[in-house]
Amino acid sequence: MSAVVVSSVTKTFNIGRTDEVTALSEVDLTVGDGEFVSLIGPSGCGKSTLLRLIADLIEPSTGTVTVAGKGAGQARKEQAYGIAFQQAGLFEWRTVLRNVELPLELRGMGKAERKARAEEMLTLVGLEDFGGHYPAQLSGGMQQRVAIARALAVQPPLLLMDEPFGALDEMTRERLQSELLGICAKTGTSTVFVTHSISEAVFLSDRVVVMSARPGRITASVTVDLPSRDDAGRQSPPFFDKITEVRQALRGTPLKTVS
Ligand SMILES: Nc1ncnc2c1ncn2[C@@H]1O[C@H](COP(=O)(O)OP(=O)(O)O)[C@@H](O)[C@H]1O
Ligand SMILES: [Mg+2]
Repeated sequence: MSAVVVSSVTKTFNIGRTDEVTALSEVDLTVGDGEFVSLIGPSGCGKSTLLRLIADLIEPSTGTVTVAGKGAGQARKEQAYGIAFQQAGLFEWRTVLRNVELPLELRGMGKAERKARAEEMLTLVGLEDFGGHYPAQLSGGMQQRVAIARALAVQPPLLLMDEPFGALDEMTRERLQSELLGICAKTGTSTVFVTHSISEAVFLSDRVVVMSARPGRITASVTVDLPSRDDAGRQSPPFFDKITEVRQALRGTPLKTVS
């Protein structure tokens, strides 16, 4: 079964008003079970809108969204996905551990069990020694790892991420990319990842979905198959070839034949 199926989705905001805007037009997207898909495109092309539709934070004007075969609303109720945004969005008055526990608390999980699970998630992102700290005592990169641990805490089959590393320096970003890949591989999580970095999209993804602006549409889908997703992979010719392919798709220029 597919992790996500978006079918003929159009989203128009402020219908009938002077500021009416069609953010997405006739979008079809299928994310396979365990697949890592990135959405890339110019600012304002509807990436966040598409992610929010999948998360059932907003509703499509027309078309349908299913998550693991269920309607997006049902999937949200069942916490079928975890979500992480550009801003970590942690609660400052809660310790790191209690931030990660929050979705489990909302689920009604018992105290001992949720503490154990939250500790396990913090270990996964390399923050096992920071459970007792408050978010303000952590660097931006560490806060973002806490947000990822929180998103993973309910062990969702699907992870939705909107530029989660956008505010981080390049070194931290590369480290977290590798960590994220390790976590997804370990847990079999399907992922939809929004970014405006071509290299990030290529490094992380099984498939890069390219969008164009006004109204947002999917214009290309680039399958990525790197020999390895590590430092060697980042320096391999296939990595650079895929970056070129995505860049050209973003520009809307046809691919040159490489001889
Ligand atoms: N809640 C909203 N109300 C009105 N317009 C919106 C709303 N959310 C997004 N938009 C508009 O929809 C378009 C796509 O926005 P968005 O999905 O945030 O783009 P991206 O994430 O690709 O930068 C933009 O023109 C934006 O102004
Ligand atoms: Mg956005």
